[in-house]
Parts: sequence; structure tokens; C-alpha cells
Amino acid sequence: MKALVLSGGRGTRLRPITHTGAKQLIPIANKPILFYGLEAIADAGIKDVGIIVGETKEEIKKAVGTGKKWGLRITYVEQKAPLGLAHAVKVSQRYLKDKPFVMYLGDNLVKEGITSLVREFKRKKPNALILLSRVREPQRFGVAELKKGKVVRLTEKPKRPKSDLALVGVYMFDKNIFEAVNNIKPSFRKEYEITDAIQYLIDKGHKVHSHIIQGWWKDTGKVEDVLEANRLILEFLQTKIEGKVDGDSRITGRVVIERGAQVVNSVIRGPAIIGKRSKIINSYIGPFTSIYWGTTIRNSEIEHSIVLEESSIDSISGRINESLIGKEVSIFKTKAKPQSYRFTIGDRSRLEVL
Ligand code: DAU
Repeated sequence: MKALVLSGGRGTRLRPITHTGAKQLIPIANKPILFYGLEAIADAGIKDVGIIVGETKEEIKKAVGTGKKWGLRITYVEQKAPLGLAHAVKVSQRYLKDKPFVMYLGDNLVKEGITSLVREFKRKKPNALILLSRVREPQRFGVAELKKGKVVRLTEKPKRPKSDLALVGVYMFDKNIFEAVNNIKPSFRKEYEITDAIQYLIDKGHKVHSHIIQGWWKDTGKVEDVLEANRLILEFLQTKIEGKVDGDSRITGRVVIERGAQVVNSVIRGPAIIGKRSKIINSYIGPFTSIYWGTTIRNSEIEHSIVLEESSIDSISGRINESLIGKEVSIFKTKAKPQSYRFTIGDRSRLEVL
């Protein structure tokens, strides 16, 4: 069995962060989202993985490489434009051949992994196996209607959802999916929807099994989801101090200080992670915070947040909370006259100031 991981697309809902980078590479607890998926695939015993890449191809290739570190053989499959999940399957037909495969959306996180589901798919041999999860806002997802435990209808982002069962971004298919993706029309959002392709299978009488997952699942499509995913992953953090912590600092709870990081006269209250080469000076880092590589936090307080690489936060008087701060960002208290706010911010940024 092969895997197809979707790492193309545009990430419009995560702008401005995704103006400069792939959304699948945003680190959650200092590890790119995409890597969690690749680990789950490797754990399930799958070796051959096709990764769909688009505009951010070079960045994804640089981060993932050959896949050797997970014991995977990776092939990059180019999708010229993000025309939908079913379109991604279409362009992968040559790579996948007629073999059954698991399709994994590169911006999804599934706590329980996929090992038991792959096993179930191999044992029962349906034509498709979809995963479902009960959610609060089903209109943001593909939604399934079940009758007597059987999937009867799937609707992509319905205005009036008929159930609270969202389609999780992990699917298993046999070769019949190719006929389906080659026969559907683009949707209201002008995409070839995998949801419509699965509906095609149902309408043609193919066996579409579903499995309601019990553990958590996160589609990291929005900032709040990214922060929530960070919180969920940090819940399972194991303490590991490889960087330097001076005698004036206090570390409580589960905290990771990566190699080359420095903590000086600061309080770190876990779960929190401080990345390689980062410096925390005279500061407070509160629970559920991930500071990525080479970032400096000085004379400031931050919690429930993610800060990406090479950024700097200096002498901010209020506590920073629930924030996603990008790469090479600098936030500092100014001494310049006139004393005023000065912003250089990209399109679609959001600032909440006191
Ligand atoms: O996360 C689960 C949801 O994923 C499902 O409930 C929906 O039924 C399904 O359509 C999908 O919805 P999204 O609108 O969230 O999909 P998104 O555009 O975010 O794309 C998901 C991943 O696939 C993301 O990593 C980008 C990648 N992608 C997307 C498109 C449209 C591609 O590689 N190629 C594409 O053409």
C-alpha cells in the first residue's frame, strides 16, 4: 500500500503566515505539521509516499528530503494548480498505479495515528474507508450523513449541515477512486472535491465504510486551530533540558529546552518548548508556548502562543497571549520620538493592542 500526502494548495486562511511559507510546515511543538503525518504513515508500515506539491514545492522538498529519516521512499508529484483534492488524486494516478492507497492531508493531525485503520482497510477490503469526527462547526468541513451506520450522503462545506460528522483528512481508497475523480465536475468553490468523488462511489454502489474516530483531530486551517493543535501536542511533552539554564531561572512543569538554547533570569512554566539557538532573557514563558529556532525574547511575557524562527520580542509591557508570530518578526518597545505605535505589517495581519 502507498500513501499520498497533500502538501500543495495555498493556505489563504493562514495569511499572512503563509505568504512566505507552506502552511504544512508551520511547527507545532517545534515540529512541522507535515512531519506528524509522515510519522503516522511510517508507523502504519507504509514505505512508499507520494507528496503532492505546488507553489511551495522547493520549501517542502528542502524540509522533507528523501524521507530517509522516517524510513520512507518519497516521490514528489507536482500539481500545477491547486484545483482540489480529487484533482491531486488525478495527477497522482501514474504514481499510484492501481494499488490501494491512503490519502493524508498535510495540514491534518490525528492523535490516534492510522495504524489500526490501515489494518481495518486491508482486512475488510472496502472500496473506500473514510474517517469521521464529531465537530462543533460542521459547515467548515465535508459532512457525512449516515443511515443505520452506512454513509448515504457527503456534502462539502454545507450551509445547513445535516449532521455534526466532519470528514477527517485521512482517506483510504482502492483503484475505483480513479474512475470517480475522472467523472466529477468542479464544485461551487471551483475545485474537484474528493467529497464528490466519494459520493460518486456511493452512487455507483461501491462499498464506502466509515469510522468515527474517538481521539482528537485537528485541521490546522485557521490560526485558532494551529494554537489549539499546539496545546494538544504540548500536553504530551516530556521534559528534556539540553540547552543552558542559568541559576537565576526557574523551570516548572514539562519543558523542553533544545540544544544551543539559553535561558537567563527567566521563568518557564510548562508545557513549553524553547527551540535551538533561542534566547530567553529576563522573561516569562507561560504554558502552551512553542518558541522555534533562533528567536530572542527579552524583558517580555508570553503564553499560549507560537513564535517562529529568528524573531525577536523585546520589552513589551503587557503579556502576549494566544498569538501566532511569524518568521523574522520584530516586536519591541520604541524609544523614538514621537512616542507612537509604528507598524510594518503584511496584508491580512491582525493586531490586538491595549
Ligand atoms: O481537513 C478536513 C477537510 O479537508 C475535509 O473535511 C473536507 O471535506 C476537505 O475538502 C478538506 O477541506 P479543506 O478546505 O480544509 O481543504 P484544504 O484546501 O485546506 O486542503 C487540504 C490539504 O490539501 C492542504 O494541506 C493543502 C492540500 N491541497 C489542497 C488543494 C485544494 C493540495 O495539495 N492540492 C489542492 O489542490
